[in-house]
This record gives sequence, C-alpha cells and structure tokens, in this order.
Amino acid sequence: MAVLPVLTWGDPRLKQNSQDIGEWTPELEKLVADMFETSLFEEGVGLAAPQVGVNLNLAVIDCSCGEDPDQRIILINPEIIREEGVQSGSEGCLSIPGIREELERPQKVTIRNRTRDGGWQELTGEDLMARAFCHEIDHLRGRLFVEYFGPVKRQFLQRKYQKQTKG
Ligand code: NI
Repeated sequence: MAVLPVLTWGDPRLKQNSQDIGEWTPELEKLVADMFETSLFEEGVGLAAPQVGVNLNLAVIDCSCGEDPDQRIILINPEIIREEGVQSGSEGCLSIPGIREELERPQKVTIRNRTRDGGWQELTGEDLMARAFCHEIDHLRGRLFVEYFGPVKRQFLQRKYQKQTKG
C-alpha cells in the first residue's frame, strides 16, 4: 500500500466529471487499498479517485478513521436516490487542507452503489455517513464543498487557503 499525492484546490482535474467503472480489476483493488491508506494517513473520512488524479467514479469512506475495518465503504458508480432531513455541521476536504466550514447537508441519504462483483446495493447513511456520501459523490461530479458558498465567501476562503499554503 502507498500514500498517494492528493490534488489540491485549483487543480483543473478536480473539476472534471468522472467516468463509470466497467469491470473490476486487480489494478482497481490496489488503487482502493492505496486510497484507504491515503485517507487514513491524512486523517480524512473519505477520498475520491479524482483527488488522486484518477478520473473514475470511485471513492472510499471510513467514518471510523481506521479504527474499524468493517466500516470501510467503497463507492463504485454511486448515485444518490433519496435524501431526507437537514443537518448542519462543519465540513472539510483533503484537497483543501486547513479549511473547515459549516455546510448544510441532508441528514439521511440513500445511494445506489455498485459492488466489486458487478452487483448493486442500496446503502443508507445518517449524520457523518450521509455527509460523506454527498461530499464524495460531489467530487465525482467535479464539485468541491466550497462551491456551495457564494462568490464573496468563496473568495475569502480562497485567499485564506492560499495565504496558509504559502506559509
Ligand atoms: Ni473532499
């Protein structure tokens, strides 16, 4: 397993629509292991393939941050099919280190997700899991969480981010 370099805010590759995955391969299995390793190393809850420069509808989520292997979820060609309620809470992204902001998300989210053996499953998540589903699926559509804010707030965050990146 390897920790992969994570693309950061401003990289055009984070703005692309990702491609659906066809057949599951050993290369994808290795990529997923590396993505879990990277997410854990960076102390994230999830990581989407575009963040490591791979333009595929693939993401990993681990709300236990490495504490419980059973909580590892692999999103393959995921789609949100149901949203309920609203939660507000602080959100961050490994591609925008150092920036955390309050963002409303649905409280409960159900997704349709492909499994590695080519089947389909429905997964329902609440609270942090629901937030992670939305956040990672947004990455696959080329969207970062800061894009939910208006231009003034976004520019403020961008300046703050650039300032701290330069040290
Ligand atoms: Ni992110």
